[in-house]
Amino acid sequence: MKAIMYHKYGPPEVLQLREVEKPKPKDNEILVKVHATTVTSGDVRLRSSDFPTLVWLPARLIFGLFRPRKKILGHELSGRVMEIGKNVTKFKVGDSVFGTTTMLPKGSYAEYVCLPEEWKSGVVAAKPDNLSFEESAALPIGGMTALFLLEKANISAGQKVLIYGASGSVGSYAVQIAKHFGTTVTGVCSTSNLAMVQSLGADAVVDYTQEDYTALAAAFDIVFDAVGKTTKSKARKILKRSGTFVSVAMLTSEKTDHLLTLKALAEKEVIKPFIDKHFPLEAMVEAHRYVDSGRKRGNVVIEL
Ligand SMILES: NC(=O)c1ccc[n+]([C@@H]2O[C@H](COP(=O)([O-])OP(=O)(O)OC[C@H]3O[C@@H](n4cnc5c(N)ncnc54)[C@H](OP(=O)(O)O)[C@@H]3O)[C@@H](O)[C@H]2O)c1
Repeated sequence: MKAIMYHKYGPPEVLQLREVEKPKPKDNEILVKVHATTVTSGDVRLRSSDFPTLVWLPARLIFGLFRPRKKILGHELSGRVMEIGKNVTKFKVGDSVFGTTTMLPKGSYAEYVCLPEEWKSGVVAAKPDNLSFEESAALPIGGMTALFLLEKANISAGQKVLIYGASGSVGSYAVQIAKHFGTTVTGVCSTSNLAMVQSLGADAVVDYTQEDYTALAAAFDIVFDAVGKTTKSKARKILKRSGTFVSVAMLTSEKTDHLLTLKALAEKEVIKPFIDKHFPLEAMVEAHRYVDSGRKRGNVVIEL
């Protein structure tokens, strides 16, 4: 099968298209033919070993001290179940699924991937009926991160929520999910993304190139930093006394319940993945160059 591999940390060019052996599912695994995967900001971070200074060493110990331990990158996917191990009960051959490969030995930049039907770090479930494979692949990580952090902030109806970095993957889901909770949402982004963030349902938008969001007159119940580019001390200026700051820099975890909630919200047309660009597997280097720019809007999808 075709897979994109990397054997050293570095620029997008370290990613190479290779022919490798198709994996075989273990007793508790499903073999998925991948129809779509994505390039997340986490993928480019892992490829380039761009870890924050404080966690650089622990991250390299986990992901490979001298070279990447996991040679096939890729965290999100959608596809069809082609084979199942003899102990698998939740899925059958032919099912359409979506999920993640978090902490598995091989990622989703490949024609086939084996996923346990259940494991501690990642998730897989039946794909939303009304979304394409491309849209479904773009939902798990950004969507689960947004949901996890909004729940951590105890979001509830009637609150005022500010999403800083509303045009990214996490940000675009955070706007839609916060609206679903019945809150009033202000999205912060740059000039070219104002219309996009409004189209996601934001009640107000702030252009961070023209205006300092911390000078806004309103008091917010939640400030959600969806790109890791602001701080709690800045956010405090516009937070109510009882307000909460959450950030993508905080530890989050993947839960099957959250993936199923996202599937249900997608099927009710409450949320819709925003797809910025599509690339074929063969153009992975180009796709990584684009995400490296830090300017992607929503999600970048790889079609197989
Ligand atoms: N904790 C977790 O589990 C978890 C999960 C997923 C992601 N993350 C982290 O969350 C961060 C965001 O990930 P993502 O994939 O959602 O991001 P992304 O899609 O790569 O974010 C790109 C967006 O960020 C905006 N942006 C760039 N600089 C900005 C700034 N100074 N102020 C406001 N917006 C800015 C850009 O919009 P403009 O062009 O308008 O600036 C662009 O639309 C990454 O650091 C990632 O590693 C954490």
